[in-house]
Amino acid sequence: MEKNKITLPYLHEKKSRGVPITMLTAYDYPGAKQVDLAGIDMILVGDSLAMVVLGYDSTVHVTMEDMLHHCKAVNRGARRAFLVGDMPFLSYQADVRDAVYNAGRFIQEAGMDAVKLEGGKERATVIRAISEAGIPVVGHLGLTPQSHTKLGGYKVQSKTAEGANLLLENALAIEQAGCSFLVFEMVPARIAEYISKKLTIPTIGIGAGNGCDGQVLVYHDMLGINSEFNPKFLKQFASLGKDASAAIKDYSVAVESRAYPAVEHSFMINEEEYAAFMAMQDE
Ligand code: KIV
Repeated sequence: MEKNKITLPYLHEKKSRGVPITMLTAYDYPGAKQVDLAGIDMILVGDSLAMVVLGYDSTVHVTMEDMLHHCKAVNRGARRAFLVGDMPFLSYQADVRDAVYNAGRFIQEAGMDAVKLEGGKERATVIRAISEAGIPVVGHLGLTPQSHTKLGGYKVQSKTAEGANLLLENALAIEQAGCSFLVFEMVPARIAEYISKKLTIPTIGIGAGNGCDGQVLVYHDMLGINSEFNPKFLKQFASLGKDASAAIKDYSVAVESRAYPAVEHSFMINEEEYAAFMAMQDE
């Protein structure tokens, strides 16, 4: 193991000390390297891969093979961060045995440290089985994108007293089942804060306010790579999408005007060799 590798006990200790945990998604070698070198605690290879990298309209389209392919690249780029592989739709819902086997592939083949899966009480059996196989599990409650059709879209969840109480019950149930962390997505800040205090495991929020034990964002969203995606909870910390478009236009203009490549971008041959070459052409 890398000397400074972030461990599960270290992350749990951060919760006890009240120090926020940082998490960001990554999907490839260069992205993972940047995130890791910036000192982010946890990298999630999210199934958001489907939308932000592969161009699908929802997360349900990515497969185990897609996820493993990208997890392996992230593992090659990250040295220090705690790595979480997101279990794709249908890799854990149908059968507990399959779920343990699929979770194991994230660890054995792709070098992940933990797996994440969506759902509450109804997932308790599967969470217990994966956890008992020695694999840390990150739960995911609130807006669970793999069920977006059933939820009626990508909306804030648990806004009623009854909904908030159900969220609490689900959080306690999956902690009890063996989850090591819990992601809250798009739930009211006060509810996420209240539940975070009730749990012993760290909570990581996305659109869940400042009272969670940590925060996660999607790499492409926080870097403004797709600048049109700008929901209320998101802060774009850069405008890489606009910067990339401007740079690509500059390149196109430079090629068309022959301004690029300039002399400094070209390889030279010495005069004597060039003269000899030209003489060969006259023979
Ligand atoms: O897939 C993903 O990127 C996620 C985060 C939004 C938590 O699940």
